[in-house]
Amino acid sequence: MSLPLLFTPLELRGLTLRNRIVVAPMHQYAAVKGFPTDWHLMNAGRYAAGGVGLVMMESTKVERRGCGTVGDLGLWDDAFIPHLQRIVDFVHQCGTAVGIQLGHSGRKARTGRPWEGSRPLTADMGIDDWDAWDLVAPSAIAADDKSPVPRALSTAEVREVVEAFGRAAARANAAGFDTVEIHGAHGFLVHEFLSPTANQRTDQYGGNEANRRRFALEVAECVRANWPQDKPLFMRLSVDDDAGWSPADSVVLSRELKAVGVDVIDCSAGGMLARPVSSTPIGYGYQVPFAQRLREEAGIQTMAVGLIVHHDQAEQILREGKADLIALAREMLHNPNWAFDAACKMGIEDSFSLIPPAGGWWLQKRMAAMPSLMTSTHERKD
Ligand SMILES: Cc1cc2nc3c(=O)[nH]c(=O)nc-3n(C[C@H](O)[C@H](O)[C@H](O)COP(=O)(O)O)c2cc1C
Repeated sequence: MSLPLLFTPLELRGLTLRNRIVVAPMHQYAAVKGFPTDWHLMNAGRYAAGGVGLVMMESTKVERRGCGTVGDLGLWDDAFIPHLQRIVDFVHQCGTAVGIQLGHSGRKARTGRPWEGSRPLTADMGIDDWDAWDLVAPSAIAADDKSPVPRALSTAEVREVVEAFGRAAARANAAGFDTVEIHGAHGFLVHEFLSPTANQRTDQYGGNEANRRRFALEVAECVRANWPQDKPLFMRLSVDDDAGWSPADSVVLSRELKAVGVDVIDCSAGGMLARPVSSTPIGYGYQVPFAQRLREEAGIQTMAVGLIVHHDQAEQILREGKADLIALAREMLHNPNWAFDAACKMGIEDSFSLIPPAGGWWLQKRMAAMPSLMTSTHERKD
């Protein structure tokens, strides 16, 4: 039997992923003043120990004022490096690669946690460094009618934010990460610059389409300049946002991103408006067509994400050439051992070596005693 594509290693520059399964970035809302906690170690660790190829850690902010909530991770200071390195080392011990998403929430900063209502926070809530939490954006346009109006960044300040992305990438390298992903999606700062809805600037960062792409490209260039040549660079885009940014725009941008050294586009959608993108009714693999289109038309490697749930569904996406990598978020919350489980179901010979021996050794013995165990239903008698 030929090896399923899902378990075929993938080389990205100097990094070899042991399989094509990626944990999509998932905010944990659990950092303390930007520092990771034991929760982050446990969270990245459980996926790493579950056999995935790559864990992409959550959107980690390149500036204090870019934090979306009080629980955001930060990389705006060298002090964060050793704390993240501890997590990187642990994930590596499991044989898994680890990346970190670099982000800035822009006009969507300064909100409560989702399960607390995601409402804008206010100065009277006792946040000790409130004054450092300036709400900034390309233009003074609120995210929605419940959100405060942000301050438009000056041209010089835009360039400073670009540099902040670069410095955060250098720190991510110092912490030992294998890859970084620039967060250019979901209505946050980079996406805001791309958007004709959120960006109505009149300097070189706004106005026509090329100007709106400039910030994203400068961020990618600056991150690339601060990130080793032998390590891959990912960028997440909202390929379609239903608010003036289209898949055709994403094709043009992806070609340019490839030219400045981005290796993989992580294909998401939406986030500029409160409602989901109307061209993609939510269902199994609803964003896969975006990954396929960018792969075909921009000639860049892509990662598919969004309601990819089953191993045969994931394998089919790869077999049909629609993406190079498969990312899962909520299904990983449901089953952090998803990769190991998929390997067993797909009959991968050394599936037990995907997980640390403290689990794998015992499970292999159990299966040797009862070969049908991993695939059987309760009806089976053997
Ligand atoms: C708890 C949670 C936190 C998330 N945090 C991030 C994040 O930090 N950055 C990001 O780009 N997307 C984030 N997402 C979106 C996911 O990466 C993913 O794109 C989305 O959940 C769709 O994939 P799924 O259907 O496999 O869950 C988050 C999703 C969840 C459920």
